[in-house]
Amino acid sequence: MAQGALPGFRDFYPQELAERAYIMSVWREVARRYAFVEYDGPPLEPLELYTKKSGEEIVGQLYNFDDKGGRQVALRPEMTPTVARMVGARANALRKPVRWFSIPQLFRYERQQKGRLREHYQLNVDIFGEASVAADAELMAAALDMMRAFGLGHDDVRARVSDRRLLRAVLTTIGAAEDAHEAVFAVIDKVERTPRAVSEEKLRAAGLEESATGKLFELLRVRTAAELRAVIGTTNRALDERLAEIEQYLDFTARLGVGEYVQLDLTIVRGLAYYTGIVFELFDAKGEFRAIAGGGRYDTLLASLGGVDLPALGFGMGDVVLGELLRARGLMKSAARPVEVWVAGGERTVDLQKVMSLAASLRAEGLAVEYSLRPQQIAKQFKAAATAGAKRAVIVPLATDAVGGTEYTIRDLDSGEQTKYPDADAVVRALAAAPGAR
Ligand code: HAM
Repeated sequence: MAQGALPGFRDFYPQELAERAYIMSVWREVARRYAFVEYDGPPLEPLELYTKKSGEEIVGQLYNFDDKGGRQVALRPEMTPTVARMVGARANALRKPVRWFSIPQLFRYERQQKGRLREHYQLNVDIFGEASVAADAELMAAALDMMRAFGLGHDDVRARVSDRRLLRAVLTTIGAAEDAHEAVFAVIDKVERTPRAVSEEKLRAAGLEESATGKLFELLRVRTAAELRAVIGTTNRALDERLAEIEQYLDFTARLGVGEYVQLDLTIVRGLAYYTGIVFELFDAKGEFRAIAGGGRYDTLLASLGGVDLPALGFGMGDVVLGELLRARGLMKSAARPVEVWVAGGERTVDLQKVMSLAASLRAEGLAVEYSLRPQQIAKQFKAAATAGAKRAVIVPLATDAVGGTEYTIRDLDSGEQTKYPDADAVVRALAAAPGAR
């Protein structure tokens, strides 16, 4: 028995590939509607592209090795460093804002669990060169419109939004010293999966007073900007600016038609190190699955990779969790195109030759055509046609047919209804006019 695929890697049999193709077709269609253009980069990159900026979590999951030239390389675990490098290298020549998308296969040596594999396909949608929250809102609208295009509505999906700068202003306001912020971020990032006492202990270790810790837990339950203002009570300029910005962002997402999905949620921090501003994740509304998508603003990454100083933001949406959710809701579709016409004939080589000639003409018209590759009984050919899912069959006249031996027949395989045609050209004309032909 042959060995299976490696743990965390998938074989895509035609059915699974057709589902993957469906997901990608929806991604591409919505990306097109939002005027994003497609690019790609190399699947293998210099190791240091990730060790510099992605943060510990991803670096610990790298598939890396030394190549035969002694270079330290890694399979790409995410697309952001690659696209940042690509845009940085041509920043002056590119029309701004740059609106790009890509669907790379990514590799992470993750602990296997529901929704997490060691390879996945991830739609990446990014904007470069725009600092306004209008760009953040545009991305959120694109991400949520994708959900709608899959048939997922407000009952199925939520977008949870935070802002790392807002969170910093909040932490300062409740009395957390600046050098404690990173440690507090790390606690918040895990707060939903950690017992409260453990989180409290970590916050104390980071230097937070008990009163600040209490306030923080209250703030993590807030879901609107108004609630946030009410809970925090006191205010200051830095906080006011950040609150005004997030309120504008929320207003913009409403104007773009996705406001009902979006809620403020300070528990969203994001695991990657390079985010600087608004960050978000999409989840199923019942909270049964891992994140469907995640992203945010990373305004300093391009400069820190040695490129130009260009504001940037984007999100990644994987095919794994999305696929699980679509299947659970009965919304998974397949991009498979069935056989459109089956050509059938008699049991001799001369019959097969006629079948081949007609198949060639029909294929030239853009139809998907199959036939039995060896001469066989017509009943067997019809059976094969039905198994292949063909809707129609054409029966070519038997080479030996003495009576009316030149007529072709188109048979509807569902109803059994048959129509006769005088010659092959008439058959091609009739079928080429049918839907599916070009
Ligand atoms: P991320 O949160 O690591 O972000 O991944 C984004 C999405 O990819 C996740 O929400 C999840 O759906 C999917 N995903 C990630 N890892 C796996 C895995 N091991 N198995 C299955 N699915 C997975 C990033 O990668 C950022 N670079 C996204 C981004 C683009 N930020 C700005 N632009």
